[in-house]
Amino acid sequence: MRVVLLSPAYPAEMINFSRGLAEVGATVYGVGDTPRDQLPPNVKRYLADYLTVPRILDEVDVMNRVSDWLRGRYIDRVLTVWEPLVMLAARLRERWGVPGMNVETARGFRDKEVMKQRVRAAGLRVPRSRRVRTAAEVRATAEEIGYPLILKPIAGAGCADTYHVTSQQELEKVLPRLRGVPEASCEEYIEGDELTYDTVCIRGEPVMENITQYLPKPLEARTNEWISPIAISIRDMSQPKLAGGIALGRAVLKALNMDDGFTHMEWYLTKNGEAVFGEIACRPGGAGLVDQMNYTYDADLFREWARVVCWGHFEAPRERKYNVGIVFKRAQGFGHITRIEGLVDWLRMCGSCVVEDKLLRPGMHRRDWRQTQTSDGHVMVRHPDFEETLRMCQAAATQIRMYAQ
Ligand SMILES: Nc1ncnc2c1ncn2[C@@H]1O[C@H](COP(=O)(O)OP(=O)(O)O)[C@@H](O)[C@H]1O
Ligand SMILES: [Mg+2]
Repeated sequence: MRVVLLSPAYPAEMINFSRGLAEVGATVYGVGDTPRDQLPPNVKRYLADYLTVPRILDEVDVMNRVSDWLRGRYIDRVLTVWEPLVMLAARLRERWGVPGMNVETARGFRDKEVMKQRVRAAGLRVPRSRRVRTAAEVRATAEEIGYPLILKPIAGAGCADTYHVTSQQELEKVLPRLRGVPEASCEEYIEGDELTYDTVCIRGEPVMENITQYLPKPLEARTNEWISPIAISIRDMSQPKLAGGIALGRAVLKALNMDDGFTHMEWYLTKNGEAVFGEIACRPGGAGLVDQMNYTYDADLFREWARVVCWGHFEAPRERKYNVGIVFKRAQGFGHITRIEGLVDWLRMCGSCVVEDKLLRPGMHRRDWRQTQTSDGHVMVRHPDFEETLRMCQAAATQIRMYAQ
């Protein structure tokens, strides 16, 4: 099993997927723009070979270089778990005739309007929306859809350039900020809780399903620095309030013709219990979500993903044992972390429920909370009871305080 893995070392979360592939017996050829001598040793040891390209996002250039490099070697899979490379992986598959998701299918997971059209065509509940390219188109669409609405890039990620607009006056203020965005979605705003529906699929059929709830919704968390964003992987998937989201998720996978691997969908649960589609990607959720799911099942989904994409088997435990909550912290002030308050008490309170403490420590430089979901680090807890997990997460959010100078 010879596998080309695009960007095996960046972002850092990719590293475990290289390990997973090697552990299920794949020969892994890495391609990335990290120079070979800067590859972390915990990636290098899993790669049979590695090609450094100058710009991993330059699709034509990468395709030509990789084709030259691999000439004469037969390749069974082209894989990536990083969103910006999903289309490139599909293009390489088509060029070389390798099995897996093709370009047309991948477009349904990347282009937010194509995605919504396909999901809508399957009769599923999707926010009303339109593709917009000019200020005039935005104004016309806003008239049609009404307020409040959402404006966001067609190929967005991490809430970048995403605006919740509640009136025409606000729209006029937001429009100049969207000048750098060539194409946007103008969308009906859905009031409600925001959750995910994550899967590992074999030929589009989920062999693992997981739901996490965001607290608060990502757009709010991304707009207010003082918030400590929480996400909780929910142990009990059989509770009635989640049934609509699971049914929606399964139907979306069919509508978009999912193949093998991870999917990460976001959906809204409205006050009257309706599940509304948000977006979906054909890769795992970031910001520690795979680790959270691993702690939920006591599984190694990095390896099981690899087993699925290489061999079409999945061998992780099926029993959901824990709710798993992650809390991201943001320090007050700029520069380097100077002190952390409340951590010792919090750790004592949660005891063995704490599975990770990856907060930055004094002396380390703050991360840019607008650029990275992980902010200044996180803590993670797990417990069989949801309310108890939530309580520990809320305590971390309010009682742990980080300062920087
Ligand atoms: N139609 C909508 N209604 C309500 N909130 C939305 C809507 N679209 C986006 N959002 C908010 O903006 C965030 C980012 O939008 P999303 O479509 O998930 O793009 P991204 O690729 O940046 O994650 C969502 O997580 C949600 O909080
Ligand atoms: Mg999103």
